[in-house]
Amino acid sequence: MPPVRIAPSLLAADFSRLKDEIQRVEAGGADWLHLDVMDGHFVPNLTIGPPVIESVRKITKLTLDCHLMIMEPEKFVGVFADAGADSVTFHAEAVAMDYARKWKDRGWAMTLPCKALFDARRVDACIDQIQSKGKRAAVAINPDTEAECAAELLPKVDMILAMTVWPGFGGQKFIESVMPKVAKLRKMAPDLDIEVDGGLTPETVKAAGAAGANIIVAGTSTFRSPDPAAAIAALRSNAGSR
Ligand code: DX5
Ligand code: ZN
Repeated sequence: MPPVRIAPSLLAADFSRLKDEIQRVEAGGADWLHLDVMDGHFVPNLTIGPPVIESVRKITKLTLDCHLMIMEPEKFVGVFADAGADSVTFHAEAVAMDYARKWKDRGWAMTLPCKALFDARRVDACIDQIQSKGKRAAVAINPDTEAECAAELLPKVDMILAMTVWPGFGGQKFIESVMPKVAKLRKMAPDLDIEVDGGLTPETVKAAGAAGANIIVAGTSTFRSPDPAAAIAALRSNAGSR
């Protein structure tokens, strides 16, 4: 089981004081900094892009964990790696065949109904671009996408992200029914970094840690806490308290 790492999500920070906010969680014991990139197509929200990653890179030594919630990630993974991300995560659902993409017509990030809908060439193109720049490549799966959909990717990636909310917004409620999938992924890949993202608090992290997650993303419960250092310490000890 790889070590627990706590990754505060910048989405919950005060964007008028980014430097202070980042230094506060860095001093508070954060291991990584999670950066959410949204394109208004894969998810119904827009956030930050490469110039912000570049600026953040200059003011922190934290590992930059860049989570791309965008369509056509193969066009951008290299740009984010060059901007200073240490790890680049793209969504499996965003590199699916046409049929799966139709789920987007529902106006929301979609589910991969079965692994046959993967476009393996696009997946490999993303992973290769990231890893050839010496960065960590990770794949994310939405709450309803099954572990089996990611099975063939596990040997190729440096991390898998099991979303514990539907991506698009911070401050949502943790979806506990994702935990059996996390446990399944941990069985399939005992040494792989397994990240959870969405609704993580010192309380909900207990279930995530028990299921086998070791990379804990937390926005609201860290940046919006009156005492981020205490929140990070509580997340860390509760994630490993199984
Ligand atoms: C949601 C993002 C998350 C978000 C988590 O789409 O991927 O990283 O910032 O925020 P909290 O911890 O507030 O749920
Ligand atoms: Zn995220």
